[in-house]
Amino acid sequence: MAERVVVAGPASEDLGKSIAAKLGLGLLKTEFKVFPDGESKFTSEEKVSGKTVFVVQSTYPPVDQHLFQLLMMSHQLSQEGAKIVAVVPYLAYARQDKEFLPGEGVTLGIVAHLMRSAGVRRLVTVDIHSAEGMSLFSIPVYSVSAIPTLVGYAKENLRLGDAAVISPDFGASKRTEAFAALFGAKYFQLSKTRDRKTGEVSVKETSLDVKGKDVVILDDIISTGGTVKAAAEKVLAQGASSAVAVCTHGLFVGGAVSKLRQAGVGTIVGTNTVQGEFSVVDISEALASHLKTLEE
Ligand code: R5P
Repeated sequence: MAERVVVAGPASEDLGKSIAAKLGLGLLKTEFKVFPDGESKFTSEEKVSGKTVFVVQSTYPPVDQHLFQLLMMSHQLSQEGAKIVAVVPYLAYARQDKEFLPGEGVTLGIVAHLMRSAGVRRLVTVDIHSAEGMSLFSIPVYSVSAIPTLVGYAKENLRLGDAAVISPDFGASKRTEAFAALFGAKYFQLSKTRDRKTGEVSVKETSLDVKGKDVVILDDIISTGGTVKAAAEKVLAQGASSAVAVCTHGLFVGGAVSKLRQAGVGTIVGTNTVQGEFSVVDISEALASHLKTLEE
């Protein structure tokens, strides 16, 4: 088997180090500079020819900068003769996986094309937004589930009484069902719609058995917080005791946190696919276990 090493990219330094430690692999010596005009420069300080390199770099905001850094590292190291496995815990543009309105670009397809052109041989991500998105890639793509890790965290750290788990929309329903089954709680699905032009979210009125319950609202991504806010307002209006927001990728842009607080959300939980205040769940073990199973 070829020697394996890890590069901890600038967006995922801690996660990359933790994955390397769990796999017993070395960290490649590299340098990243960001110049005052915003350009990045990547230098690899070791020979990588013939090695398999796990390039760990998430693509949370600033999305395009982090994505371009991933492409730069992959291109340089593959040019030097390494086999590149891109480990992209949060895959940006995964929500642009089809043409929702006429003329819209399927941007995930461009990302797939760029990664391949930069020399990426395989992509490993966490809770990809949709299975359809995976089919836009012409390299193998693996989506590692964060659900068992999130459930482990919730069991140990969230003091929930009589709990229920809610999926804000159909897209999140399978993940939520799995979470509820592992957690041992009832599961409900709301019916969210989003205005494709304004981005405004609304949740259809449904009668839910949440009176007196601690409700976990689970989503893959919290971005502006609009989806979880609408779900929290709905369950609290129907008598839920509390609303907790749990997600894999917490981007929290555009005043999301104050929106969630105003809607009555108490605890907010995310994983370290994105670095930030609410990234309390460590996903490195799940990623490392998956990387161990990858064949050459
Ligand atoms: C959409 O289908 C996703 O699963 C999330 O529900 C969505 O991206 C969350 O975005 P926001 O926090 O801006 O409502």
